[in-house]
Amino acid sequence: MNAEALLRDKSARTEEALRALVAEWKDAPPRLVEAVSYSLFAGGKRLRPALALGACEMVCGTDDPALPVACALEMVHTYSLIHDDLPAMDDDDLRRGRPTSHKVFGEATAILAGDALLTMAFEAAARTGSAVIVTELARAAGVAGMVGGQQMDMDAEGRDVTLAELRGIHACKTGALIRSAARCGALAGGADAAQLDALSAYGDSLGLAFQIADDLLDVTGDAEKLGKATGADAAHVKATYPSLLGLEEARRLARQTIENALDALAPFGPEADAFRALAHFVIDRDR
Ligand code: IPE
Ligand code: IPE
Ligand code: MG
Ligand code: MG
Ligand code: MG
Repeated sequence: MNAEALLRDKSARTEEALRALVAEWKDAPPRLVEAVSYSLFAGGKRLRPALALGACEMVCGTDDPALPVACALEMVHTYSLIHDDLPAMDDDDLRRGRPTSHKVFGEATAILAGDALLTMAFEAAARTGSAVIVTELARAAGVAGMVGGQQMDMDAEGRDVTLAELRGIHACKTGALIRSAARCGALAGGADAAQLDALSAYGDSLGLAFQIADDLLDVTGDAEKLGKATGADAAHVKATYPSLLGLEEARRLARQTIENALDALAPFGPEADAFRALAHFVIDRDR
């Protein structure tokens, strides 16, 4: 299976399950449901659900047990995008090919749409019946993961950072949730310790390479294809791989990081081929 097919297949499954979850919010204010749906159903690659569902399938032959946490991961991710785009953060106008949430619904509703997604994500994750999975997701999303990474990203604006620091920022703000997606899927599928370690290591390298590619696309990508503005990192004097190392060296590091991701899959056979393809997709993508 190639990466596009994996993303398409897992995204269709996730989309259907997400729609069913949102349909349960009968008592919620319609404007809030509208704002949540606007961002959640605006496309998006659904990489994190694909990782959770794919990892689960690799270890147990079906992706069913991971479906609730795949939805939870996409809800946390979508909330992180809504808040990342707020004027107080990256102040972006375009996301997933649409005006950002705060542009359409105002800042207050955009903040609440994020809050709603974050909170309801944990209701979804709880449906796995696994406290271990809920804890895994909380740690990846929280102070030592995505939220902490966003703070580090803000604190690094406009100042020099070392390569080690930058790696730490990227590992937290983006890497933690991506690594966790692979781990949550593996856990839902009943992975043994060796499988969990291998998929963790894969997710770790994939997550770092994903953010290096995101930084590169901000410089060289096409806003139309990306569905978000380019050149934003330079405008905010963000600490990024291209700003620290230059384009060529950043590309080289992304490739090297993907080699590490592929090495991590060595214990698996052909059942990991879709994840091998996904690793290449992460650095070759144009969206
Ligand atoms: C963008 O994530 C923000 C980062 C963490 C780099 P994606 O590139 O996965 O965004 P969507 O979900 O496809 O819109
Ligand atoms: C975002 O990183 C990481 C998140 C936790 C959302 P960026 O700020 O680089 O993401 P984009 O480029 O706006 O999608
Ligand atoms: Mg940001
Ligand atoms: Mg941003
Ligand atoms: Mg970016």
